[in-house]
Amino acid sequence: MSTDERSSRRSFAVAITGASGAVYAVRTLAALLERGCHVELVISEYGRRLLRDELGEAASVDRLTDYLVGKYGSDVRQGSTSLYSNKDLGARIASGSQGCEGMVVVPCSMKTLAGIAHGLSRNLVERAADVMLKERRTLIVVPRETPMSLPQLKNMVLCAEAGAMVMPAMPAFYQMPQTLDDLADFMAGKILSALGFQHELYPAWKG
Ligand SMILES: Cc1cc2nc3c(=O)[nH]c(=O)nc-3n(C[C@H](O)[C@H](O)[C@H](O)COP(=O)(O)O)c2cc1C
Repeated sequence: MSTDERSSRRSFAVAITGASGAVYAVRTLAALLERGCHVELVISEYGRRLLRDELGEAASVDRLTDYLVGKYGSDVRQGSTSLYSNKDLGARIASGSQGCEGMVVVPCSMKTLAGIAHGLSRNLVERAADVMLKERRTLIVVPRETPMSLPQLKNMVLCAEAGAMVMPAMPAFYQMPQTLDDLADFMAGKILSALGFQHELYPAWKG
């Protein structure tokens, strides 16, 4: 895709790491793409494994677009995606001069959470998140683990103190979810709200 085409769209980085909850990742991706966004996508080695382990071979990285279209419909093609290796520290999103307005790490493993919390920049996911923090742009991390150790809890605090929004993968049940997709819609909806999108991924709370 040309630079002009990319810059005419709202652009976000999405990282998928190896914590349980692949369904949250694909729902978030689809929701951004349906809205015509450009997504700079990076998937860790364990994130790649997670897509296959939790969603099956049809969701493996090389077939991901077809998977999203099959599950969420052809509107997903309104967006665009650039996929990067997690080892590529020279990728566009490793620099503060890139145009992404925000980044979502969904799901976020405890390992990646620790790397972000301590500014380690050991791979592209951590570096891109570090860039978001230093540039004061939106960074949403969606950690998943239970129970949590003290270091893990402290790492969430460090991320929040650095300016990230910590949004644990904790879907609500007052919406009476019927399916796993309902739970995924809820988390993706929370992420979209935090990125400033209107949506109807879950019913508005009427009190
Ligand atoms: C199927 C599967 C599920 C996992 N679930 C979690 C999890 O929920 N939370 C977590 O922190 N790690 C989880 N792990 C372990 C991480 O994938 C592992 O620590 C990995 O090194 C994370 O690396 P990454 O952050 O680069 O993806 C899981 C691993 C596998 C294979």
